[in-house]
Amino acid sequence: MNAYILSFLKNNISSDTRFINRLFVTAVITRNKWVVKKNSLLSSLIIDKAHPDYQVLTQFIDVLERYNFQYTFDDLISLFEFVVSPHDKIVNGAVYTPQYIRDYIEDYCWSVYKGNIDVCRIIDLSCGCGGFLVDMARKMKERSNKTYKQIFSENIYGIDVQGYAIERTKILLSLLALSMGEDDEFSYNLWSANTLNFNFQEKFRPYHGFDIIIGNPPYVCSRNLPQETKEIIKKWSVCSTGHPDLYIPFFQVAIENLSSNGVMGYITMNSFLKSVNGRALREYFNTLHKSIHIIDFRGRQIFQSKNTYTCLFFVENKKSDYLYYGVYDGLFENFKYNRFEYRGLDSKKGWDLNETTKIHQLESIGKPIRKFAQSRHGLATLCNKVYIFAPVRTTKRFYILRQNGVDYPIEKTICMDIVNPNKFNSEVVFADVIRKIIFPYEKNYEGKMTIMPEHKLQELYPYTYRYLLTQKLQLAARDKGKGKNYDIWYQFGRTQSLNLPSLKLFVPKIANRAPRCILIDNPNLYFYNGFAFVGENVETLCVLQKILESSIFWEYIVANSKPYSSDYYSISGSYIYNFGIHNFSTEEKQYLLTENRKEKIDSFLRRIYFPEKAE
Ligand SMILES: C[S@@+](CC[C@H](N)C(=O)[O-])C[C@H]1O[C@@H](n2cnc3c(N)ncnc32)[C@H](O)[C@@H]1O
Repeated sequence: MNAYILSFLKNNISSDTRFINRLFVTAVITRNKWVVKKNSLLSSLIIDKAHPDYQVLTQFIDVLERYNFQYTFDDLISLFEFVVSPHDKIVNGAVYTPQYIRDYIEDYCWSVYKGNIDVCRIIDLSCGCGGFLVDMARKMKERSNKTYKQIFSENIYGIDVQGYAIERTKILLSLLALSMGEDDEFSYNLWSANTLNFNFQEKFRPYHGFDIIIGNPPYVCSRNLPQETKEIIKKWSVCSTGHPDLYIPFFQVAIENLSSNGVMGYITMNSFLKSVNGRALREYFNTLHKSIHIIDFRGRQIFQSKNTYTCLFFVENKKSDYLYYGVYDGLFENFKYNRFEYRGLDSKKGWDLNETTKIHQLESIGKPIRKFAQSRHGLATLCNKVYIFAPVRTTKRFYILRQNGVDYPIEKTICMDIVNPNKFNSEVVFADVIRKIIFPYEKNYEGKMTIMPEHKLQELYPYTYRYLLTQKLQLAARDKGKGKNYDIWYQFGRTQSLNLPSLKLFVPKIANRAPRCILIDNPNLYFYNGFAFVGENVETLCVLQKILESSIFWEYIVANSKPYSSDYYSISGSYIYNFGIHNFSTEEKQYLLTENRKEKIDSFLRRIYFPEKAE
């Protein structure tokens, strides 16, 4: 969409959804010289010359003309998407699907559907402003002799939790009909409702389910879900593991509402293939044994306005022992799937669908990393900008912390060194990434860190105490306001990693090449973000470091881990814990410990991990 059109909207348009609808509808109808006589919805939206908004309308049309707006349905959908509030995008996942993806999903479903087209029931369970439904109505018209009036009332169904989205779907469907000369009153099967507790059985009697279920369920992570929604999703069995994202139950709703020869096609997040919150969903699919096809976009970005990792997911309502999966490489044509037997898929661990042979080989050697060395996450203050700083100056007694232009002296003896392993890369000098953290903890008689009582902090570290007092409100706002209920208001948000062994092998959580890991022996050095392997034995961690930095380990990450854009991958938790650490002989260990040339280590490890491929 042209930036000038968008900037006009930004500067001239209120958030009044009806006003926006009127503007868009009148612009389209005026430009196309359509005449509306019967359709009361469209008539009610037209801004005529006597209307106070007529001037804004003419300015708007001017801008559209000047920047060559095409008035296609997709352009209108983009306009509608642009005016969705940022809040709604976060809390309701209101991000609309691009046309080429909709087309692929729709055409796939049509190609699979073998029933009578005239009676085919099509639903989008989270329809937004109706992109999928407009397309499907048009495609149905091409395939049948029905009028739009018949299609809207007999074949097209939609639900969205937002009333304005349903209103806009009605508008777009009406405009579609009008564009083909059908100016009429329509009756729609469109509901402003919550799909997750929508009673389909009650609405349709007798109920046979839907023949085609298409769409793009809302992606909303658990921490952005209102409590009420969290309660509602609990009733869906696929939401019983981890902290489910809002898109997860939409799979179950769709599958349970498919007709006996129905097909569903979604664009949806791909994280459920591996994540803990997708475990129950994977189990559900493993039990169902339906015919599933997945086109995984991995790190490729499909939505311009949002960083998300997605896949296309198709289910045909028929039994199959196999699931089909492939990675998209830029072309849908002759798409190549690999076939996986359900009984070979491990739902608990996560589905290994990408470069399976390599993953299995690397995991079947020796001991999994998680048993080879313990790992720890970093400190979680939940408000790093208050506690962690780079001193702007140092005096004999103080580090000077600068915040919003104000300098605060902080007693040196209450500070610890801290690093962020995500900042490591091959160019960085370790000393340059060390920061200070205000650490209001002390060791108790058992050697455990406990929070320092307030009177003691005030007495021993009066300057730090004064500084923290200026931050009290911010600290209380941590944990969505739960910070105000902490036992002591300046304690860190979480208690993890307050006690750390001296030896730590720091690992960045995300990288775009074999990670640089740093091994440090220092009892007073802490870390945040990233994670660390810890232990007592320096040799064990040295060997581990050589492996984590090797090309073999990076290949494993690329095949198995969660991709991000720009070829970055996650290097944490379940994505790496099953990598096998070979049971090295004493000589092999010695070799690894003394060899520092990367190429030599790489080929040495390659001989061990892929003996059949070694020259
Ligand atoms: C990702 S958008 C998809 C819109 C449209 N299907 C498309 O692909 O262009 C998700 C939609 O789900 C709606 N939504 C969010 N939670 C919902 C719920 N519990 N029930 C029904 N719709 C919901 C949002 O309002 C939003 O319009």
